[in-house]
Amino acid sequence: MSTTEPTTTEPINDSLDGALLTAARGRRSDHLPVWFMRQAGRSLPEYRARRQGTVMLQACQDPDLVTELTMQPVSRHGVDAAILFSDIVVPLVVAGIDVDIVPGVGPVIEAPVRSLEDVRALPQLDPAGLDFLGTAVRRLVAELDSTPLIGFSGAPFTLAAYLIEGGPSKDHALTKAFMYGRPELWDELLSALAEYASVFLRVQAAAGASVLQLFDSWAGALPAAAYERYVLPYSRRVFASLDDLDVPRIHFGVGTGELLGLMAQAGAEIVGVDWRVPLAQAVSRIGPGHPVQGNLDPAILLADWDVIEAAVREVVGQGRDAPGHIFNLGHGVLPQTDPEVLTRVVDLVHSLPAR
Ligand code: CP3
Repeated sequence: MSTTEPTTTEPINDSLDGALLTAARGRRSDHLPVWFMRQAGRSLPEYRARRQGTVMLQACQDPDLVTELTMQPVSRHGVDAAILFSDIVVPLVVAGIDVDIVPGVGPVIEAPVRSLEDVRALPQLDPAGLDFLGTAVRRLVAELDSTPLIGFSGAPFTLAAYLIEGGPSKDHALTKAFMYGRPELWDELLSALAEYASVFLRVQAAAGASVLQLFDSWAGALPAAAYERYVLPYSRRVFASLDDLDVPRIHFGVGTGELLGLMAQAGAEIVGVDWRVPLAQAVSRIGPGHPVQGNLDPAILLADWDVIEAAVREVVGQGRDAPGHIFNLGHGVLPQTDPEVLTRVVDLVHSLPAR
């Protein structure tokens, strides 16, 4: 998709099924689409039951399980999109890097990437190793019928942060030291990771995913000037590699209030907004022509319903400034969230006027 400008010649698809793609293309329909980042996962008892006895990275490579886990929140909540059950480190695993996902911790890298030798030794990601992914996506597209499937990847910076730190980090100090201190090596590393992300996303789109989201979860660790110099060019490369596909793209990061204007220039039509910035303000920082996705604080879902309802209405109201709005949380569903509250939020969003 090359433009998000509304056109008058195409009919507006008003059905709920079409609501997400309509919003993604920068147009308003009668229905406001809603899905939740991390909608598949530990907030659902059926997820916890099904995952018993299978480690996370095994689950991600099992097409039957991926299909079932992806469908669970769609069947339960009636959200307007499915997000593929996978993880941002899956391409690293398939490339042959020793990664584990430790429950309650996150991705842990056996041998962190910190030297010239480490960067040069990074394997290529062979799409042939991603057969399981294409299989899962094709099955899901058939099963989902008209509900869109969102494919995703981690962005080069966020993948680099895990590779360099060796696991989750609060300050990303090693990553920043590498980035500021060894810019040429940084270029090699981020170029390799941009290629991983491109390959991973292309396989999903080729198998039928109808929207793609690039998660740059930890980009908010950087000041704008560093983001522009050391991160934006590589995310731009990922999006550019998908320009020939007619698939709307979402670009999301956490704590990115100061970066929204730059992130909007990376090549994605839709900008995901975290919960720290009022959505109307985010829309003006992002600039004209971009639909937005977001941005209810996930912690609000732990409050009483009247508090939740007021907050949902506030986000929906603020989103009216954008050419299209996909309602979502400002980051992932917290594991302790009551799934019935999520369903209620979906129903509430669907009941509110979308224009
Ligand atoms: O509904 C969905 O969004 C499911 C698909 C999904 C997962 N991870 C499944 C998962 C997606 C889109 C992701 C992306 C992801 N993974 C990101 C970007 C999104 C974000 O939250 O910023 C990041 C940074 C990761 C890395 C990662 N993987 C973390 C931080 C964790 C949580 C660790 C923990 O246990 O607290 C994981 C593991 C993970 N990924 C789980 C799930 C369902 C939990 C593992 C389990 O259930 O055993």
